[in-house]
Amino acid sequence: MNRRRKIYEGKAKVLYEGPEPGTLIQHFKDDATAGNGAKHEVIDGKGVLNNRISEFVFSKLNTLGIPTHFVRRINMREQLIREVEIIPIEVVVRNVAAGSLCKRLGLESGTQLPRSIIEFYYKDDALNDPMVSEEHITAFGWATPQELDDIMALAVRVNDFLTGLFMGVGIQLVDFKIECGRLFEGDMMRIVLADEISPDNCRLWDVKTRNKLDKDRFREDLGGLVDAYREVAQRLGILVEAENALTTGPRLVQ
Ligand SMILES: Nc1ncnc2c1ncn2[C@@H]1O[C@H](COP(=O)(O)OP(=O)(O)OP(=O)(O)O)[C@@H](O)[C@H]1O
Ligand SMILES: [Mg+2]
Repeated sequence: MNRRRKIYEGKAKVLYEGPEPGTLIQHFKDDATAGNGAKHEVIDGKGVLNNRISEFVFSKLNTLGIPTHFVRRINMREQLIREVEIIPIEVVVRNVAAGSLCKRLGLESGTQLPRSIIEFYYKDDALNDPMVSEEHITAFGWATPQELDDIMALAVRVNDFLTGLFMGVGIQLVDFKIECGRLFEGDMMRIVLADEISPDNCRLWDVKTRNKLDKDRFREDLGGLVDAYREVAQRLGILVEAENALTTGPRLVQ
């Protein structure tokens, strides 16, 4: 057995060299962090659920013609992705006020926003991922105006898709964060969705109970994170009851 070459180890995932040039293997860890790593815990089973949920969302986006880095899931914790040049911007789309927006603008959590709002944060842990404007992004050359247009159009499409997907299973999409990258194909380049979409980077509230089904359970010490992520997966039809029941013994199939 050869040891795989590790390209990058982040807080929630590891990237390994892929089987072919231009590919990577994205491995989902069980680590949960908040406040730029200030708070850290290993939560058994989180990585497996995020791998499955992200696979589900990215496959659907690919089918809809929204370009992503996702190729296929390899195993419980890993997926094959296309290597991209990550644009050092975190794109946040908000539908309902929560988290830092409430603090910044003195809004009550849960306030419906007049329309979806897109925010940008510069990816730099040493600076604590500061919020930046389109002006900063283009002036400092992190993305060109054309790329930024593509990124915003992509973010809006992802928001429309996710809002409907989750509403259909009784979950409100409050906000989410995405990362985009440049995918080079010959002498062509296009912006694609990269990284992951999972309850680690979405705020998901149960429509009926208002229960939080996302990483805020960890940030706010509410407990039950894996149960909440499993609930999301089950509602999306990713984990069928029967698959869960495998751990508790065989079930009669009628
Ligand atoms: N297709 C891709 N090609 C190259 N890099 C990618 C791709 N998709 C995601 N990445 C990068 O892989 C890393 C995933 O690791 P992880 O999410 O654990 O990082 P992190 O600790 O959150 O740090 P970061 O601040 O860099 O996101 C991120 O840096 C992300 O930008
Ligand atoms: Mg990350």
